[in-house]
Amino acid sequence: MTAEPRTRMIEAGPEAIAAAADCLRAGGLVAFPTETVYGLGADATNGPAVARLYAAKGRPAFNPLISHVADAGAAERLAVFNDDARRLAAAFWPGPLTLVLPKAPGCPVSDLALAGLDTIALRVPAHPTAHALLAAFGKPIVAPSANRSGHVSPTTAQHAMGDLRGRIDLIVDGGAAPVGVESTIVACLGTPTLLRPGGVAREDIARVLGQSLESDETPDDDAPLAPGMMTSHYAPKAALRLNAREPREGETLLAFGPHAGAAMNLSPGGDLIEAAANLFSHLRALDAAGARAIAVSPIPRDGLGEAINDRLARAAAPRR
Ligand code: TXA
Ligand code: MG
Repeated sequence: MTAEPRTRMIEAGPEAIAAAADCLRAGGLVAFPTETVYGLGADATNGPAVARLYAAKGRPAFNPLISHVADAGAAERLAVFNDDARRLAAAFWPGPLTLVLPKAPGCPVSDLALAGLDTIALRVPAHPTAHALLAAFGKPIVAPSANRSGHVSPTTAQHAMGDLRGRIDLIVDGGAAPVGVESTIVACLGTPTLLRPGGVAREDIARVLGQSLESDETPDDDAPLAPGMMTSHYAPKAALRLNAREPREGETLLAFGPHAGAAMNLSPGGDLIEAAANLFSHLRALDAAGARAIAVSPIPRDGLGEAINDRLARAAAPRR
């Protein structure tokens, strides 16, 4: 990649929706309005597209992303709903509520978008432009807020352009986002738990559930996550040794860059976008294959390399 992509802005309408869906199909990045804030969308099932999304945001780490879908039926194909989740979906979707649920078997959302977790965050936005795009695209769209990491969430297309010009392909301008704060996130994995306050009030959620809502508020998505929190990250069963030039006796090599004898390679060509897209799925595959100890090749720290090294360091840290 050489020149920066030119970022187009198109006013919301049928032409913008068609262009945005085409762009997503081609693995591109599209900012679009939702009722909460503008989202930066990518095809949730396309690992390299998701990797480019993290790169465009300049995230220091891979945090799990919300998968947006057009309706509750599409959501039910991606996750396992319990009674609480069904009740909340019926009451607040479409709208500014995100549900964290166990992912369904065969869920096609990329491991990178889920940060390797077995849970998935799902939202059905109410904004007509977001809905039209999801319906036209026909697949889940991951969309964090359309700002550079560390900046505030954008509520207009101009904010998104200011932060992401030259880093993404297209911005659909649908005017100001009416709610202006992000969605409320509730985990339904047992006792329903508030993970992030947002556009739906806690009291309204409690009323629908018929019980008060426990809190386990995660830090902001740009802040480091404390171990043991619900958003704690995928850790392989195998022990990891990082910055390994060669595997030792009993170790399986997870390589980066050209390596003849490697069991698995994050990117034989040394491409960090490809490596990010493969990171969690390769760790899972090595676990599934019964690897006891994994040696990981050195990975450069520029671009997405910082986030890859961050996740590997967490995965290598001693378990509690
Ligand atoms: O209103 C919104 O939710 C906006 C619009 C664009 O939809 N999106 C948004 O995404 O705020 P983002 O990436 O900025 O925040 C998503 C939050 C992060 O704090 C992330 O840790 C959490 O959702 N999250 C995602 N998947 C999760 C999971 N499986 N378990 C727990 N938390 C999760
Ligand atoms: Mg955000």
